[in-house]
Amino acid sequence: MIVVVGAGLIGLSIAYELSKRNADVRVIEAREPGRAASWAGAGMLAPYTENVVPSAFEDLCVAALHAYPSFARELQACSGVDAHLRLDGIVEAAFDRDQAARLDAHVAALEVRSVPARRLTRDEVRALEPALGPSVVSGAFTPSEGAVDNRRLGRALHAACLARGVRIDERAGEIAIEADTRRVLGVRTSNGFVPARAVVNAAGAWAGMLAGVPDHARVAVVPSKGQMLALAMPRGLVCHVMWAPGAYLVPRDDGRLLVGATVEDAGFDVRVTARGLGTLLDAALSALPALGNLAVAETWAGIRPGTPDGLPYLGESSLSGYVVATGHYRNGILLAPVTAQAIADILEGRSRPDLAPFSPQRAEGRPAAGLPRAAESEETYAAIAKESA
Ligand code: GLY
Repeated sequence: MIVVVGAGLIGLSIAYELSKRNADVRVIEAREPGRAASWAGAGMLAPYTENVVPSAFEDLCVAALHAYPSFARELQACSGVDAHLRLDGIVEAAFDRDQAARLDAHVAALEVRSVPARRLTRDEVRALEPALGPSVVSGAFTPSEGAVDNRRLGRALHAACLARGVRIDERAGEIAIEADTRRVLGVRTSNGFVPARAVVNAAGAWAGMLAGVPDHARVAVVPSKGQMLALAMPRGLVCHVMWAPGAYLVPRDDGRLLVGATVEDAGFDVRVTARGLGTLLDAALSALPALGNLAVAETWAGIRPGTPDGLPYLGESSLSGYVVATGHYRNGILLAPVTAQAIADILEGRSRPDLAPFSPQRAEGRPAAGLPRAAESEETYAAIAKESA
């Protein structure tokens, strides 16, 4: 038996992939499946626009982008849920000479590497996105990027896992791994002990606090708060995923326009604040003044799982059988399909030298200075969730 702790997009993708490889897999989730960063994200699939520098990490992100069409298609066939994948390009807009020069350099760097990208004149960028304000100077277009509706993807993965016979234990409360001095033995919850030959920690921003992990195998996960809002948009007002200084915009097929996201060092605080919304709205309205009259349909905040060096943890720890899959920071939704492949390969004992830079062992045993203790953060999270319910 393999137990995956965490039923976000990462944990469910791993469980789904393992089930396809005929592994006996069970998912245990402390709260509700797919309701943390997997639900709060915008679903952008943007390895180039996120400005990831050429590296093993960018290779992983690009492989993930290429994997998405078959991932979404297969999940739809298995679950009946369309995750609304759209890879019709991302438009980035510049509003002054410095921003325009930065976009030019960005496009030039992509062109050198034969990545499809093009500069857009002021007229071209306004033709693609007529709602852009008159002060736009120029733009850039990366046609292979886009977005997926991450909330729909979560539903698709959940249903696909169940269809494949994966057991998902929800609202399990406190979860602890059990281990002897050498290896993992299983997972304990208030419902009892589940013996396992391997445990995958896919608990997102909470992964660093999983109880029972010996200090030598513990990794620090740094919470990064992101606030977002959705506007009710007339169809077609914004057509592409867009980046403007200080905000990104993601149009959904249901008529909402997502505006994101703050990046805040605020522990596990999931309050939506006046300053957070003000910052996002200022940025969005200065780029697209036409948004000013739209109704605010929803506001929310989520916690990204960051790491001290900015790279995810993907792989085996120094505790035999204990595998870590978290720390995806701004790219968790993008990286779900390749994370699933990577972790399933590792659990099958396949060699994946390309994953060496992401080994959790690079960071094991470092003190998680500044991170809240589990009990404190749980209290904060629960109190805030109750307050905002
Ligand atoms: N990937 C966008 C964000 O994390 O806000």
